[in-house]
Amino acid sequence: SPGVLASGSHFAPSNIALCKYWGKRDAALNLPINPSLSVSLGHLGTQTQLTPIDAAADEVWLNGVPQAPSSQFSTRLLRLLERLRFPEEPKLRIDTHNSIPTAAGLASSASGFAALARALNESFQLQLSDARLSVLARLGSGSACRSIFHGFVEWQMGQRSDGLDSHAIPWPHTWPQLCIGLLKVDASVKAVDSRSGMQRTLETAHLYQSWPAQAAADLQALRQAIAEQDFALLGARAEHNALSMHATMIASWPPLLYWQPDSLQAMQKVWQLRQQGLPLFFTMDAGPNLKLLFEAQNRQQVEAAFPDLEILQPFVDEI
Ligand code: PMV
Repeated sequence: SPGVLASGSHFAPSNIALCKYWGKRDAALNLPINPSLSVSLGHLGTQTQLTPIDAAADEVWLNGVPQAPSSQFSTRLLRLLERLRFPEEPKLRIDTHNSIPTAAGLASSASGFAALARALNESFQLQLSDARLSVLARLGSGSACRSIFHGFVEWQMGQRSDGLDSHAIPWPHTWPQLCIGLLKVDASVKAVDSRSGMQRTLETAHLYQSWPAQAAADLQALRQAIAEQDFALLGARAEHNALSMHATMIASWPPLLYWQPDSLQAMQKVWQLRQQGLPLFFTMDAGPNLKLLFEAQNRQQVEAAFPDLEILQPFVDEI
């Protein structure tokens, strides 16, 4: 049958946004209302492999377990596959392995769609540039366009209605001392996914009006913080950006509040430690977990304060 080959195993890192993507100007193409900036998570992410199968339907496997074809997970992955496949081409088995909990607000959909885009590129022999791979990944999940790259990554929102200029670019900076710690409050699947959450915010939250300008200003400040390795500026802007996004969510109707009592308790502990002089900040996505931002020289102090913290190292040598 024409063209489709087995792919090797393709890896894409998860990413944590320092300036968040929140709101779509085109929901079908995942075109954002604001540009965003993330840092990738080194070795944590998704590994994906495609194999043509002699079967009537595609198969989706997650961490070694077959997924129901009607599950939300399978449906979303297969939709991206269907964009590329001609009807006469063989069915495929998609094998995907996450080294992070699925759908815990940890951007597993980002690494998942970026790894799938890379595997599709090989199987269908598309020979896409990184920018085009980023566009393809974006069609699966907006934040996935940033998982095509390592390190600091900006998603340029673009202007075209076809979305071809809406993709990520890597920033030429490293920051080996930068640490992210995952504080898991609840790793179960979130109640309202980011797609519906964004739509609800856009349609009902009066506070959303001020979000695009805030995000643009935060991105500028973060650009400076990264260029000058100014951790206090980076942390402050990232935390303020995340809380501003959550403010727009809370101002939605019905209200969208991802926090749990333990989330709030952790925030207060961060603020208390900061007041005592520890340079420690947090960011949060569409879920109850906190991602703590700190530098390597303060790691012991942070770990002593949060014994359950899972350290994620954005910049690792071997990549
Ligand atoms: O890519 P999506 O549709 O799962 O949206 C991600 C949205 C946030 O995680 C809340 C922010 C971001 O920029 O990652």
